Amino acid sequence: MKAKLIMSLFFVLLLTLPALSETSYDPNTDELLDAVIERARHIHDDQLGYPVNEDVRLDGFYEWYLENGIDHAMLNNAGDPNDYTANHGVLEIEAEVIRFFAPLYGFDPDDTWGLISASGTDGNNHGIYFGRHYLTSVTGLSPILYVSTESHYSNMRLAELQQIETRMIPTDEMGRMIPEEFRAALDPERPALVVFSMGTTFKGGIDDQQAINAILDEVNPPAVYRHVDAALFGGYLPFSEYADLVDRRVCQFDSIAVSGHKYFGIDEPCGLFFTTKEVMARQNPYDISYLNSSMPMINCSRSALNPLKFYWVVKTTGTEGFKAQTRAMLDTTAYLKSRLDEIGWPAWVSCEQSNTVFFERPSDEIMEKYFLAPDYDERFGGNLAHIVVMQNVTPEVIDDVIDDLMAEQAAIQPAA
Ligand SMILES: Cc1ncc(COP(=O)(O)O)c(C=O)c1O
Repeated sequence: MKAKLIMSLFFVLLLTLPALSETSYDPNTDELLDAVIERARHIHDDQLGYPVNEDVRLDGFYEWYLENGIDHAMLNNAGDPNDYTANHGVLEIEAEVIRFFAPLYGFDPDDTWGLISASGTDGNNHGIYFGRHYLTSVTGLSPILYVSTESHYSNMRLAELQQIETRMIPTDEMGRMIPEEFRAALDPERPALVVFSMGTTFKGGIDDQQAINAILDEVNPPAVYRHVDAALFGGYLPFSEYADLVDRRVCQFDSIAVSGHKYFGIDEPCGLFFTTKEVMARQNPYDISYLNSSMPMINCSRSALNPLKFYWVVKTTGTEGFKAQTRAMLDTTAYLKSRLDEIGWPAWVSCEQSNTVFFERPSDEIMEKYFLAPDYDERFGGNLAHIVVMQNVTPEVIDDVIDDLMAEQAAIQPAA
């Protein structure tokens, strides 16, 4: 009898728990959330200065996700998507995304180790970490890292974190590592870990891998590891006529990092990272019994949502879709440059592969209206801004910017 009573009380408690753990919170009356909605709309409509595809097409994904109750599960992609026995997330989906992209960067499907990373920075972290261990394992010597002064700051920060001796190589005016400066800095006695920028953040400069490789061949340091930081350009170049620039069969790099939220239209930070099995064979695999897996990557818990979104984007866009988006972006970049030239606004594009136009900095009003990113370079007269032509930047949007710039010109030019 007493036991029955206790059981009944237990069930009553169980039934009331959800009610007790939920408050009467109404998000529609939360001003902080209202501000978020406002900002998201503004960013979606007007952001031109940051390399993010604001044309996000994940509606179908979220419907599928909710319809199937996946929002009630905590999925975790802890583990190696290239070799796993236990799966607490969607490792098979991550592996499928890796299989789709690896050949686009020239990796042999049978000799690839890939990962959906947390971001471009996370991909660079893996590239520098694996590169360092590879070189030390091959030569018994600690390497020197070479990276350009216009490279993304994450590379310098990561080199500092990993305590690797670093030599910063000066750039030319278009943001490219100067080969002669690289030659002068290259130590013939120590292994070389070279980080190439495949599209610098502000000018979109592309390091000349062939020229740097020729110097490496000539000077012949004890061993070389090449990592390509292709955060933005690595997204679209494989779908363009310039695909060779991110093809390891042509450029001989050992690893590459690409952001997922820049070109691919994924709505939260993530990325792609690829290297070879030879590189991985020289890493500490950290066999972890509680995960029933080897853990060569840096992070333990990893997002399962990102691989699902990546998979969705690949399936719903397809190679032809990516090619069409890339063509439109590069055409619109040329259109932006021609319109700036037409109105006499000083503007530059570092190379024909770039979707970034940098130009003389306009007023603060225009900078704020379009979320333009600022920079400073004496070689171009000082204050600069840039527009990164992503999928959401259409010719109509460009015309609006040009109208605003013309209005500014008219306001500052004395009446004739
Ligand atoms: C050239 C380059 N590398 C790395 C990064 C960092 O990428 P993420 O923001 O995905 O960490 C950026 C970001 O803009 C970048 O432009």
